[in-house]
Formats: sequence, C-alpha cells, structure tokens
Amino acid sequence: MPATSVIGLQWGDEAKGKVVDLLTENHDIVIRYQGGNNAGHTVRFNGRTYKLSLLPTGILQGHVKSVIAPGVVVNPKAVLQELDGLIAGGQDCANRLMISDRAHVICPWHLLEEAAFEKTRGGSAIGTTMRGIGTCYREKVGRFHAIRIGDLIHRDIFAAKVREIVPMKQLLLDALDPEGPKLNSDQIIEEYSACADRLRPMVADTTAFLLDALEQGRRLLFEGAQGSLLDIDHGTFPYVTSSNSSGCGIHSGSGIPERAIEKMIGVVKAYTTRVGGGPFPTELDNEIGERIRKAGNEYGTVTGRPRRCGWLDTVATRYSARISGVDSIAIALLDVLSGFDELLICEAYEINGKVTRDFPSRCEDLALARPVLRRVEGWSEDISGITDFSKLPAAAQEYVRTVSTLVGRPVELVSVGPDRAQTIMLNCR
Ligand code: GDP
Ligand code: IMO
Ligand code: MG
Repeated sequence: MPATSVIGLQWGDEAKGKVVDLLTENHDIVIRYQGGNNAGHTVRFNGRTYKLSLLPTGILQGHVKSVIAPGVVVNPKAVLQELDGLIAGGQDCANRLMISDRAHVICPWHLLEEAAFEKTRGGSAIGTTMRGIGTCYREKVGRFHAIRIGDLIHRDIFAAKVREIVPMKQLLLDALDPEGPKLNSDQIIEEYSACADRLRPMVADTTAFLLDALEQGRRLLFEGAQGSLLDIDHGTFPYVTSSNSSGCGIHSGSGIPERAIEKMIGVVKAYTTRVGGGPFPTELDNEIGERIRKAGNEYGTVTGRPRRCGWLDTVATRYSARISGVDSIAIALLDVLSGFDELLICEAYEINGKVTRDFPSRCEDLALARPVLRRVEGWSEDISGITDFSKLPAAAQEYVRTVSTLVGRPVELVSVGPDRAQTIMLNCR
C-alpha cells in the first residue's frame, strides 16, 4: 500500500514541514489528520520561506491535493487567512484543498475559554498556543456544544447551534471573569457564515475520497503536527496538546486503515526543544541552551515564544519511535551543533536512584529524572553545504550513527539547513 507518514518524535518543531515538503514530490495527496492552527511548519526553497499552520504542507506543490481530515480542528477564519496569504504570494491553491465535513469548528468561545482557563491555572499553565484547540476537542469528545464543518456550511443549522450555545458559554465566561468579553451571536453567525460561503466548495467527505484514492493506487502522505511527546494519551500529560499527535492518531484522524501505511518516518531534531510548560529532563537553562537557541533560531513559528533548548534525549525519542512503530528517522538541524568541542546525548534516566531507559508514564516522575549523559566528540566545521554523508566530519557521522543506535532505528535523511537543498539522503543507511 502506497502511504507514507511523517511524525515528530519530540515536543514538536522537529522540522516535519521540511521533511514533508521533500517527500511531497513523490506523492499525490498530503493529509493533515490532527491538531489545528497550533502547528507551525516551515518550508524553504527557491530563496523563499513559507510558514504553514493549518494547511497541509503539500499545498505549495501544484500536482498535489491537500486534505484536512476529520481529526483536525478548523478555525474557518484562520484557514482562509492562510489561503489568502498564499494566493497573494502567487500560489493559486484554493482548488487544491479539501476539508472534511466531519472536522470540528473552532469558535470564538473556545479561544476565550482557553484564555480564562490558562489564567486560572497560574504557575501550572500548560502554555498553550491560545488557538482554542483543547477547548474545541473537549466539546467534540463531550458531544455537546460541538459544531462540525458539515454544520457550518448550512447557515440555518449553524445559526441555531450558535444561538443555543452562546448563552451557556456566556454564563461560564462571566463566572470566570465578570468583566470579561461578551459574545455576540448575530456577529458570530454573520462572520462565520461569510467564511462558510468561501469554504463550501472545498468541503467534502474526505474519508471516501482517500479510501478511493488508496484503491486507485494514488500515493498518500500523512503530515503529523506537534510531536509524539505532546500526544494526549502517550505524551507528558497534562502538558500535552489535545489530539493523538504520535503515529497513533493517523488512523482515527483520517479514516484510513493503519495497515495502509507502508512507511512511517520519525523526525528528530539533533537536540531537543520544547515550547510551553512541562518537564524536560535534558533542558539547558544556561548559556549552552542560549547558544543552541541562537544558532537554531529557536523561537516559536506560531507564537514567537523562545523555545526551551536541551541535549538530545534518546530515552524520549526511542519511546516515541516504539509507540508509533517508526520505520526510520530523519535527523534535522544537525548543522546547529557545529562548533561544540563535545556534545552530550541522554541515553538513560536516573529516577530516585534507579537507572532506566523507559520513559515514565507520569510527568511527576519525568520531572525527577536526571539524564544519564553520553559524551561524544563535537566538530567545528560548517556542515550546512554538505549533501553527501561521507563528506561530513567524522565526528558528525559518528553523532548520526550514535543517535540511530540509541533510538533503535535506521536514518533516512539528515538535514543540515532549512532549505530543501540542504539535505543528505541516506535511504535507510
Ligand atoms: P515543524 O513544526 O516540525 O515543521 O518545525 P518548525 O518549522 O516549527 O521548526 C523547524 C525550524 O527549523 C524552521 O525554522 C525550519 O526552517 C528550520 N530548519 C529545518 N531544518 C533545518 C536544518 O536542518 N537546519 C537548520 N538550521 N534549520 C532547519
Ligand atoms: P508543530 O506542528 C511545538 C505545544 C504548546 C503547549 C502544548 C499545548 O509546529 O510541531 P495547544 O495549543 O496545542 O493546546 O498547546 O503544546 N504545542 C506545540 N509545540 N510545536 C507545535 O506544533 C505545537 N503545537 C502545540 O506550546 O505546550
Ligand atoms: Mg513547528
């Protein structure tokens, strides 16, 4: 079966966008199946940088159909804003996009509720992207006050739902903050219906479309958002996102059988970053972390927040590779590590005096984990122009081999710069 998937093995921002873009050439359909506009995927080619949030990265290539599948939560204004940005830049792409009528709609109250809840959590705030992702998923799972794209495109159905939901949401918002914002049903109905008029031609039963495409032998590429450690079930709960952002979400989010996926590629940044709260055993809250942040330009694509930086954690990435059954890994941003005399890689945790290679299920235990670090030789050369593995400095080659061994998977490609061309293809060396 001809489907491939790309997922992140850390806490997001592993360079999934770049890897998806590289693979798009050999695929016919690119599918986002979870998350929403909390994602920020960066792609660079021909001297231009593109930042995709809700749109599948495949939207940039003319031969590809891009699909937003049922498991995604869609902010209608955000999707149109993103499309308009691309159209203004000369990309005539609206007719290449298909949005599932089963996908759920992010409404204004989701954003307001999230802001109020995060404020209430104070020091233990999740540090979300404030896009209404978690509050929208909560209503989907609760099956109450939920609106799907299939409802949005029918004005009467949508209006009736808004009029039923808004008074109850206002009660909740007022209880959280009596001085807080007030929802206006008429305004919401008008604004969202105007979006619906533009989105209607793109709305379809994407599940039927993808199942037919599979039977016709068309090549599908699944684009994961966030990272496996942010997975609602398998990540560092509660400091996670609200969807299955490991490989576990592909089947449920797209409606495509798991066995259709021939190859699952896990993207690993050559070090670790995290945005928002939650435990991070290899974090470098010091000048080394600052140096990595500067060299890797580690600031959030969506929110601009500085990303927390640390050494590569292979306990975490090995766990991620195993839960999703990853076939191979792509190691990205290796160039950022140039110039260090030595590099450290976490190969185990010590928790309460016990050394383990298992990733703890409770984030309270992860917070106690002291990384057991392996020292490896660094390299001084600029490697950002190298496209042949054998031309990398010996220490950089050894770093890649060590990561592969510790994660337990062969390496598919190594990325040495943001541009499409700055890539070393290894074909599972
Ligand atoms: P994603 O969310 O997983 O798609 O990753 P992001 O796009 O949020 O973050 C990755 C960042 O690293 C982006 O700014 C990319 O342009 C950049 N990038 C990707 N690959 C490389 C690389 O190999 N080297 C460097 N220096 N930057 C890279
Ligand atoms: P991409 O696809 C990095 C993080 C947020 C927060 C937590 C929950 O670009 O890798 P949410 O808004 O989803 O409820 O926030 O998850 N987060 C990401 N971190 N990359 C992302 O996406 C992220 N999407 C969400 O910072 O800690
Ligand atoms: Mg990102």
